[in-house]
Amino acid sequence: MVSRVIPVDAFDLVVFGCTGDLARRKILPALFRRYCAGQMPNGARVIGAARRDMGGDGFRQMTAEAIAEFGPELVASEANAQALDGFLAHLDYVAVDARGDAGWQALAACLPEDRVRAFYFSVGPALFGDLAQRIHSHGLASAQTRIVVEKPFGQDLGTARALNATLAAHFDEGQIYRIDHYLGKETVQNLMAVRFGNVLFEPLWNSQYVDHIQITVAESVGVGGRAEYYDGAGAMRDMMQNHLMQLLCLIAMEPPAQFEPDAVRDEKLKVIRALDPVEPHHIVRGQYASNGVDQTGYRDEVRNPRTTTETYVALKARISNWRWSGTPFYLRTGKRLAARSSVINVMFKDAPHSIFGAEAGRHANVLTIRLQPNEGITLHVTIKEPGQGGMRLVDVPLDMSFADALGEEGENPPDAYERLIMDVIRGNQTLFMRGDEVEAAWGWTDPVIAGWQKRGDVPKPYDIGSAGPGDADLLMRRDKREWRGIRP
Ligand code: BG6
Repeated sequence: MVSRVIPVDAFDLVVFGCTGDLARRKILPALFRRYCAGQMPNGARVIGAARRDMGGDGFRQMTAEAIAEFGPELVASEANAQALDGFLAHLDYVAVDARGDAGWQALAACLPEDRVRAFYFSVGPALFGDLAQRIHSHGLASAQTRIVVEKPFGQDLGTARALNATLAAHFDEGQIYRIDHYLGKETVQNLMAVRFGNVLFEPLWNSQYVDHIQITVAESVGVGGRAEYYDGAGAMRDMMQNHLMQLLCLIAMEPPAQFEPDAVRDEKLKVIRALDPVEPHHIVRGQYASNGVDQTGYRDEVRNPRTTTETYVALKARISNWRWSGTPFYLRTGKRLAARSSVINVMFKDAPHSIFGAEAGRHANVLTIRLQPNEGITLHVTIKEPGQGGMRLVDVPLDMSFADALGEEGENPPDAYERLIMDVIRGNQTLFMRGDEVEAAWGWTDPVIAGWQKRGDVPKPYDIGSAGPGDADLLMRRDKREWRGIRP
């Protein structure tokens, strides 16, 4: 299969915070990949902006080092290693003070042409307002200007509203691109293709046929070098409010009339607004703990012996609308679990009547959508167990791995940031969160966190490398259900 590279017009992309972790790990390697794919037109420019006075050469050198560190496979081939110089020639740098006026005139001088101009705020949210205001006051905003902001988009509904208001004071909603990098993942977009590109699933996609849906985003890594941020956030804010919420929306939403930004985002918003408040006994918090021998538990890792921040959360969500009334959604996410595995399992109901009698046992179809790794889809179907001895039934997987089915491209899907940055340049907001969506998601999350704080809730410890705390199994067992295993 050959990928199609859709050309974009020449653009200027200004990356504020270009020396930070996100820029070095994700943004710059993603741009280099797009360059290698032939999608960066002549004349396109990436302008790094940060406080440090490193000059163009310093920025180019830092970028080359970042690519070598975070995407060594990108320069492993002779052709790409040679391409690196070509890519670096698109780069420039301006030292800019986000909180003062130094550097802004030089930045303006770097942007003489009226063409697509994107400002990527790869900085903490505390600087969003300063940057937005200075872009305006220095006359850098035009009708072709876009701004890109990262999560965390607020800490709660109040702060998210304040951020939205700050940005809205200088930019239209149509110019604001709020990133949730899960939406840029190839397989997450595939959720929409599977649901709305096949006639097979949609008629069954409702509470009449679906018993329940499980969404698991398991990570094997811990909090790494982000202790300070994470300890103030926790899994509910860091993962549930955004990434899992987006997956839930894509799985549960009504078919949009078109694959267009507001059509898709309106449907997602309706799902969030139809969510019931989560009952306190329908949620389990966990925190990974040391085995006392050779592992570092969360509390030691963040050097906060009494922290009650959760590194795991599992909950049962209900969507009160015609399609889903009676079908629960079980969502869980956590760090230092048995494997890195993001999977959605659509658990269908048993056949209404078994013609094979009780001894054939109970069998139900399961549609498993593997988002990462081993991207693919498995449909578990029931067939006759081969051989003599009567009609015995067995469940077998009808398995499709994207790597096998699609070859190299299925094996190495583009990184989420490649897709998202190019969508910013193209002006396509479909895979970005709208302000009201983010606020609605916080509106659902806030009472849960407030409840924990009010009750002085302490997360349940769980073993590193496990599937999370035992209470998460109880959550399922009470409903006579069980989690699917967490496998690599
Ligand atoms: C980020 C979270 O948004 O997503 C991290 O802040 C998490 O805590 C990461 O590790 C997971 O992303 P991915 O793409 O590795 O699944």
